Amino acid sequence: MLQDLNQKQVSTIKMPLDLPDSIRAAQESALKNLGVSLSESTKLAEAVMMLSAFYVKNPEKSSPWHEVWAQIAYLAYYMPLNWWRLCGVVSRGQQLNFFTGFEHYIDFGSGLGSLGFAFDESQLSFISGTCVETAKQAINLHRGLADQSLTPLVWNQGSTPEQIKPNTLAAFSYSFTELEKLPDWVSDCDGLLIVEPSTQEDSRRLQTLRGELLTQGWHVWGPCTHAEPCPLLVLSDRDWCHDRFQWTQPAWLKQIENKMPIKNGTLPCSWLMMRRDPPAIADKPQKLDLGRMTGDLLEYKGFSKQLMCRGRAREFVSWQRRDFKKNTPEIGRGDLVRISQGLDVKGNEVRPKFFEDIVKI
Ligand SMILES: C[S@@+](CC[C@H](N)C(=O)[O-])C[C@H]1O[C@@H](n2cnc3c(N)ncnc32)[C@H](O)[C@@H]1O
Repeated sequence: MLQDLNQKQVSTIKMPLDLPDSIRAAQESALKNLGVSLSESTKLAEAVMMLSAFYVKNPEKSSPWHEVWAQIAYLAYYMPLNWWRLCGVVSRGQQLNFFTGFEHYIDFGSGLGSLGFAFDESQLSFISGTCVETAKQAINLHRGLADQSLTPLVWNQGSTPEQIKPNTLAAFSYSFTELEKLPDWVSDCDGLLIVEPSTQEDSRRLQTLRGELLTQGWHVWGPCTHAEPCPLLVLSDRDWCHDRFQWTQPAWLKQIENKMPIKNGTLPCSWLMMRRDPPAIADKPQKLDLGRMTGDLLEYKGFSKQLMCRGRAREFVSWQRRDFKKNTPEIGRGDLVRISQGLDVKGNEVRPKFFEDIVKI
């Protein structure tokens, strides 16, 4: 392998440049109440490093909301970062018409509400949003940030929602990782959205869950364009399916990162969208022509290749230098592609001849 070209790739997802003004103002005021300002990047970075160390040391434990440093770290850094990731995931879902028909959502482990703010950013409104969160400190901070929510929100500090209404989406953003299993009430919902850290362990756990839910009558809408066994899980011991969003950090966030070893040049995460009804793409006769890029572009002597998923095979698209010179198409990890039928396949490599053979959609 000569070079990882992923930085040059352009994803189809356009990320917002900054948090909405109303959330920025509420974030600043909540930080002030905790004795710090957004411009005190050294103090903020220290809090973030403490929470990061906590997560590394205790991967299965719940976030330590009783600690002021954890509240500061979440307000200044993790809430915005998760919001940006979720804006990317929600855009992926909109491309699949995934959110159509849902009237209510349950945000389980809602924290400071990054998910609801991402729905707002995409102008997705629901009749109601129920935020289930055990930590009262998180609920109080979330209330202060959510003044302008497009969806009326209610909070539930218990861990089990009451009766599930028809057309309810169950959502877990960075909270399934803190749970031993999916709660039972999810089986009464019509849709399920899970977003997880992009680690090998969390992502493979999510792919395993996908397989189990398929046997329980759920349909997968994304990221997979098929309902076959996941090739990255079944045919490899170490691969894991995850997305990556490109973004431009606002100056205030860059200042915090400048004081830390953590850098988020791109925003990776794993996600899964499932519904009780089959995906719109399954109706199309040419469904086999849809795939998703599941890897970054890797350049080798004579060709460059990129992991792509369209079914049970673990496959790469291989752009041969003799056909494409240096003009490899720029397709981001996570992007949907339309694939011409009947392309040459050599081993695990699909070999397009023309640009029209694999097109980003
Ligand atoms: C890592 S945070 C994620 C917060 C938010 N969803 C986000 O994306 O930024 C996980 C949240 O799940 C909450 N949580 C964990 N177990 C829970 C449970 N059994 N019931 C409700 N909330 C829970 C934690 O208190 C924490 O706020």
